Amino acid sequence: MSTSYLEVTWTDDETGMKGFVVIDRLSRGVAGGGLRMRKGCTLDEVRDLARGMTLKETVVYTEGDRYIPLGGAKGGIDCDPYDPRARGVLARWARAMKPLIETHFATGEDFGVRQEFIDEVFAEEGIENSAMAGYRLVPDGPDAARARQDEAFGLVVDGVGLGELVGGYGVAECTLAALEHRGMDVESARVVVQGFGSMGGATARYIARAGARVVGIADREGLVHNPDGLDVETLLLTRDGFGVIDRTRLAPGDVQLLREDWLKVDADVLVPAAMSYVITPDDVEHITASIVVEAANVATLVDAEDWLRRRGVIVVPDFVANVGTNAWWWWVVFGDIAPTADASFAKLSSVLRPLTRRVLERADAEGLSPREAATSISHEVRADVDAHHPRTVRGTAVPA
Ligand SMILES: NC(=O)c1ccc[n+]([C@@H]2O[C@H](COP(=O)([O-])OP(=O)(O)OC[C@H]3O[C@@H](n4cnc5c(N)ncnc54)[C@H](O)[C@@H]3O)[C@@H](O)[C@H]2O)c1
Repeated sequence: MSTSYLEVTWTDDETGMKGFVVIDRLSRGVAGGGLRMRKGCTLDEVRDLARGMTLKETVVYTEGDRYIPLGGAKGGIDCDPYDPRARGVLARWARAMKPLIETHFATGEDFGVRQEFIDEVFAEEGIENSAMAGYRLVPDGPDAARARQDEAFGLVVDGVGLGELVGGYGVAECTLAALEHRGMDVESARVVVQGFGSMGGATARYIARAGARVVGIADREGLVHNPDGLDVETLLLTRDGFGVIDRTRLAPGDVQLLREDWLKVDADVLVPAAMSYVITPDDVEHITASIVVEAANVATLVDAEDWLRRRGVIVVPDFVANVGTNAWWWWVVFGDIAPTADASFAKLSSVLRPLTRRVLERADAEGLSPREAATSISHEVRADVDAHHPRTVRGTAVPA
């Protein structure tokens, strides 16, 4: 396995907490990837996530797009986002990483941190924009890029910000393509989602809107279950800022279970949309679903995925399923799509449905796992992009 281009470990001098940045590779001097905040976050985890970002950057590229794939990177802070010291830790991490963020590392929200929180804290630290490193590559300049970004992030669709919806919308599109591939009817599909923040919330909304039944949602407080389907929209619009369901809004048939029980619920589709490493070899025997769609990064351990594959379960890999937020951001910033909700959803559908089909068809045809098939597609695109954009060389300095 290749080594990272750069790995940084930082220790907060006030709390002793650790923070990390891993740049897996640069492309035209820039790498992109979100920032996560979670108690227990490690350098190994951030490295895994940065590698996934490199694959994710290329897998959605369509010839002719103005947004040319960047390299992959990731940030992480080992701190509970509920910790009262979290804001100070994020501010000091941002102060330390500012030189990287301003030049090579374009970042944004991930598990435990919302974009508005990042924007607020970064602004106090004099960082103009968390993704500014990528903006210098935009053909009509950073100001136009920023204007498009602000317009898109300012949109609210049925009570939820567009920026918080696009990732889960993409997961839902991949799920629908996987159901179709399996010859399964959307209306009879029962779905369980772990996590009800940005990714899980939007995934549940758009899967429910497509006609499937969301029979379980887990958040950090527990699992909410109803075999007849939950009222996703009510729960979505009344959750707190960290994606925790307001239990006073549950419907009469809803039951509350332990959050660990999310894999034991009878379901056709499982969507991990919270932490990494949540489907382990110990869990797989409980799984009844025939499709797993990884909204969360690195959700399934390798041995568990092998076991699921032997049982005929499709696992749509993270760097395909959850690519929506990252790709959408760059499509907007580079001007590939108008900063509107309709254009955003249309582009996501037109890229992610065929991509998922292609991945699953290649996996079937070549006897590969969907992850292997998607990795080969991503590598092919990377080779093509590198060949046609000669400045796309690992380690290139940022263009002036
Ligand atoms: N936000 C993005 O743009 C984005 C993009 C791509 C991938 N991802 C991945 O999706 C996953 C979720 O990210 P997010 O941004 O939606 O996070 P988030 O912080 O918005 O939401 C996290 C959710 O997980 C729940 N949760 C926390 N601990 C839990 C536990 N022990 N059991 C069950 N649920 C628990 C929280 O209550 C919350 O509902 C992460 O793996 C992240 O890397 C996020």
